[in-house]
Amino acid sequence: MVKSKHFSSPIGNPFLLFAVITPGIYLRPNAMNWQSLTRKKDISLAVETEGAHSLRRSLRLADLTGLGIAAIIGAGIFSTIGNAAAAGGPAIALLFIFTALACCFAALCYAEFASRIPIAGSAYTYAYVSFGELFAWIIGWDLVLEYAIGNIAVAISWSGYFTGLLQGIGIHFPYWLQMDYLTAYRSFTDISSSAGKIELSSLAPNLREAYLAWTTAPQIGSLRIIADLPALGIVVLITALVYVGIRESRIASNVLVGLKLLIILAVIVVGFFYIQPENWSPFAPQGFGGVMSGVAAVFFAYIGFDAISTTSEEAINPRRDMPKSILLSLLVCTVLYVLIALVLTGMVPYMNLGVDDPLAFVFTQVGLDWFSYVIAVSAIVAMASVLLVFQLGQPRIWMSMGRDGLLPPIFARVHPRFKTPSFATILTGFLVAIPALFMNLTEVTDLGVIGTLFAFILVCGGVALNHYRSVEHHPGAFKVPYFSSRWVIPFLTVAGILLVAILGYDNLALFFGNKTLTANGAIPGGATQFIVNLPYWVFMVSIAAINYLCIRYRLSLIPMLGVLSCLYLMTELGHVNWMRFGIWLVIGLAVYFGYSRRHSKLRAMPSGK
Ligand code: ALA
Repeated sequence: MVKSKHFSSPIGNPFLLFAVITPGIYLRPNAMNWQSLTRKKDISLAVETEGAHSLRRSLRLADLTGLGIAAIIGAGIFSTIGNAAAAGGPAIALLFIFTALACCFAALCYAEFASRIPIAGSAYTYAYVSFGELFAWIIGWDLVLEYAIGNIAVAISWSGYFTGLLQGIGIHFPYWLQMDYLTAYRSFTDISSSAGKIELSSLAPNLREAYLAWTTAPQIGSLRIIADLPALGIVVLITALVYVGIRESRIASNVLVGLKLLIILAVIVVGFFYIQPENWSPFAPQGFGGVMSGVAAVFFAYIGFDAISTTSEEAINPRRDMPKSILLSLLVCTVLYVLIALVLTGMVPYMNLGVDDPLAFVFTQVGLDWFSYVIAVSAIVAMASVLLVFQLGQPRIWMSMGRDGLLPPIFARVHPRFKTPSFATILTGFLVAIPALFMNLTEVTDLGVIGTLFAFILVCGGVALNHYRSVEHHPGAFKVPYFSSRWVIPFLTVAGILLVAILGYDNLALFFGNKTLTANGAIPGGATQFIVNLPYWVFMVSIAAINYLCIRYRLSLIPMLGVLSCLYLMTELGHVNWMRFGIWLVIGLAVYFGYSRRHSKLRAMPSGK
């Protein structure tokens, strides 16, 4: 094994850092004990939301479902699906189905929690009630990745379509004001370092624009000014809308959702007539590994159904409507996504789909240029509505954390007239808008996806725990049906092991998108083989632990399938994303032990020591 110079001390390695810090904190004399870290919120207290904090209840089933669809259909299907399809071929449609299945397990669990605990805060509040404070904090901290970091990705994609459209109608926006520094820098160094002279006109448009952004950018000293201004602009606009009120946001969201559903249906129907079935063969040209390399893109396309649960406190009948709207929005989007994947890969050869605007692109390929403009306009609308829902969601989670004392009280402040979490909304605006100026799309997408998968795992685990403890349910509340996992999970595990045995150990890499069990080639970033394989080992150890728990405690099957499938998808994201995620968690723990634990409102309760 090669020894890495990058990870020789715990400081350089987030996993070791995490392992060293955490027990260190627990061992601090008189500091705390396990009981204080697992102090739980009482549901009846949690559901009480009177007084200055209450939000206005105005959302019905259709509004909630609309919010779900608004959050789901966006950058994923309009943009990131392109590269996923180019890598995986038509079989990407199957990945959409598998990912939808994983999301469906998680959605059922979200539905149970949202119906049982119908207040703002989503997974954060559910974790507070089920696992206790430390886990609640971790999940609240983690959700920032899904909402705020995920929204940075959407804002960047939005800007890409917006500036492309402006260019299409003859308005040229300077390249250095429409992308991130890293993209421009990478293109410039790639092109400059390539042997021989390269004609700019021969480059792919994305590469050419990035190169021009670098070479035409104004400079202060040696620093080039390159920033994505439209991404900032749209976030500022959406934040202002969300600040003014949920009712206004709802109307805007419903209009946007109607428009985007219409256009997605139009793409499917019109595209259907241009399908050439021979494009579907071979169905999985790069094999299983090729399909699985699109996990982040495909999963990103589904993120959002859970955001509905952040508006529980503004729903008229949350116990009934929360579960219905979560499941309905996921179902509608799954059907549309699978059809879109089949239509796209049926219209043009899969390898041509590696573009940023695949939906618009395929129609230019079949000569329908006018229709590709219509799609570009719709993409702008679609992504704006995703931004809207996520900008609504993040402040509501912070508001809950502020109410609980885990964040300073200012986070819980509700605007006296607009009845929206005022400070938290503005802060979210800054947190999304400023990085959107500078950050790189792929990196923020991956980080958003890994954070969301982790949140889903905790929510599914929470429901399994609730079923095990037979917690009480409100008579009208939705409950995930209980089936024992005692035999099914071990059966699936044995089936998996047999499959690997039949295919051979070498083929194991295929199941992990070739990202973890690398062959003998170079390892990105100089990491050791151990680090590269770490997600895979975590997966294996978790499988063993999950089997033990399922056999011993007959845990509820559906949530445990959710845990397994999301963990598998997380493993697919590779060690670099795991490391970034680890660093994020370490920072979160430092904030918790530095501030939140001591300011928690539960601390003042008799059992809150
Ligand atoms: N699912 C959302 C999108 O694709 C996050 O933009």
